[in-house]
Amino acid sequence: MKFAIIGGSGLAQLAGLEQARRQVVRTPYGDPSGPLTHGRLDGIELVFLARHGYGHTIAPHEINYRANLWALHGAGVDGILSVATVGGIRPEFGPGVLVLPDQLIDYTWGRRSTFFEGPEQPVTHIDFTVPYDDIVRERLARAAGNLGEPLALGGTYGCTQGPRLETAAEIRRMERDGCDLVGMTGMPEAALARELAVPYATLAVVANHAAGKGDSLQGISLEAISATLDQTMARVHRILGEFVRVAAREQ
Ligand code: HPA
Repeated sequence: MKFAIIGGSGLAQLAGLEQARRQVVRTPYGDPSGPLTHGRLDGIELVFLARHGYGHTIAPHEINYRANLWALHGAGVDGILSVATVGGIRPEFGPGVLVLPDQLIDYTWGRRSTFFEGPEQPVTHIDFTVPYDDIVRERLARAAGNLGEPLALGGTYGCTQGPRLETAAEIRRMERDGCDLVGMTGMPEAALARELAVPYATLAVVANHAAGKGDSLQGISLEAISATLDQTMARVHRILGEFVRVAAREQ
């Protein structure tokens, strides 16, 4: 059993990874965000990739999602857990809340969002009714439960293009659409994982109330986002540790 974790903002490295070694991977789609880090957490094999690069230099719309997913798939992983920083649209999704989304809406444009294109590729449609893998979600929920960490089960993740944050009206529209969370990196990542048939789920870390909501009524404080992420990532690390233990036990 080998699991991959894709770390987002605030999670450029996985603390406590033992026997870590980096592997530079090239893919037919170009270079991933950085080398893959192979290592062990509590003796359990794991692969880690920093979505924005190890120095956090790659913006959401510039990420080579295809290369990232291709590289992880090539490493033979059995599943991917993505950690993603988001804004909360639902009032109870305030800073520091952890959410396990079960649906998504894609508002991005111009991203290379499929492996199935080009003259040699047959037209291929994947089923994406349920975008996140139920088993990975269940294990993550169990891991949080074992630790007594509150985790909101369910929510619709709306993926915007970025890198700018949204206007208050855009967030109101997303709310009418049924979005509970807003982030910039959930797509095409989730769809590419499905194209490769790799089970995938997202742990969303709420960094702020979305634009025009809660204490973001007049604006979003980037300093406050940083402070929230600093405080919350220790909890995320603990949950990830328990998650790999739960996943390894169930193999
Ligand atoms: N919008 C989009 N992406 C985000 C936000 C937000 O408010 N906060 C963290 N990532």
